[in-house]
Amino acid sequence: MIDQYAVIGNPVAHSKSPYIHACFARQTGQELEYTRIVAELDQFALRLNNFFAAGGRGLNVTVPFKQEAYALAASLSPQATLAGAVNTLMIDTNGRLYGHNTDGLGLVQDIIGNLGQVLRDRRILVLGAGGATRGILQPLLAEQPHSLFIANRTPAKARELAAIFSALGPVQGGGFDEVDAQPYDWVLNATAASLQGELPPLPTGVVARQTRCYDLMYAAEPTVFCKWALTLGASLVSDGLGMLVEQAAESFKLWRGIRPDTRSVIAELRRELT
Ligand code: ATR
Repeated sequence: MIDQYAVIGNPVAHSKSPYIHACFARQTGQELEYTRIVAELDQFALRLNNFFAAGGRGLNVTVPFKQEAYALAASLSPQATLAGAVNTLMIDTNGRLYGHNTDGLGLVQDIIGNLGQVLRDRRILVLGAGGATRGILQPLLAEQPHSLFIANRTPAKARELAAIFSALGPVQGGGFDEVDAQPYDWVLNATAASLQGELPPLPTGVVARQTRCYDLMYAAEPTVFCKWALTLGASLVSDGLGMLVEQAAESFKLWRGIRPDTRSVIAELRRELT
């Protein structure tokens, strides 16, 4: 039987993961099959158990099951432990369900490897304090930024996250009205506001020419956040398409022991989108 992989979520019909992993498999000469599994909201554990019982080799987990996958995993990578969420599952050599989180690694790899940028000693503003933010904080802080401020519509959630991660670096949290109105080196949008076509209420002073802006979301058209950043003259504006491919490459590496070339896949996906 060909090695089986899948992305599990709800909804999952529009997931690009099967396409990305098919590109990786072709490129690295690996024989595998990667499909989609849509699970009813109360059937995640059942579908997961069935998949691995039938010999499945690995799963990517997407909305809304990343926290449930974290709870079900018998062992966890350091990234998954800190993120409180799992996006990659496999059975480890002891036969236990192992959970990893490649989202933050994918973001940092895109920023450094693809965009050729640095995070070290930089002032970073992260917008949002939900699951997406929690997933990227450890890899961002590992790059040793000058400071990292988490701004959120619900300030208490930002403060809570900052307290959890404070041992790993200079991180603080608060409301949008507590954001320093000086230009940041980086503004990363991890809110779900883009989905509603909205923009967090930020002082315009946070973005200037030297600011690099990154939206964790991606779309065929520039997101509201990317448009806003371009209007303010940011020197670099990127959406999260590269992060999507890089987090997939990290999953592929864990499963197959080889890291595929991502640039060609990012370019192909961009062409597909537009
Ligand atoms: P995810 O897992 O994608 O991070 P989430 O946990 O629901 O999803 O978190 C969504 C984040 O987007 C939160 O930080 C949320 O702010 P609250 O904590 O105040 O709810 C933020 N968010 C959603 N819609 C927003 C909007 N219209 N403006 C600003 N922030 C928004």
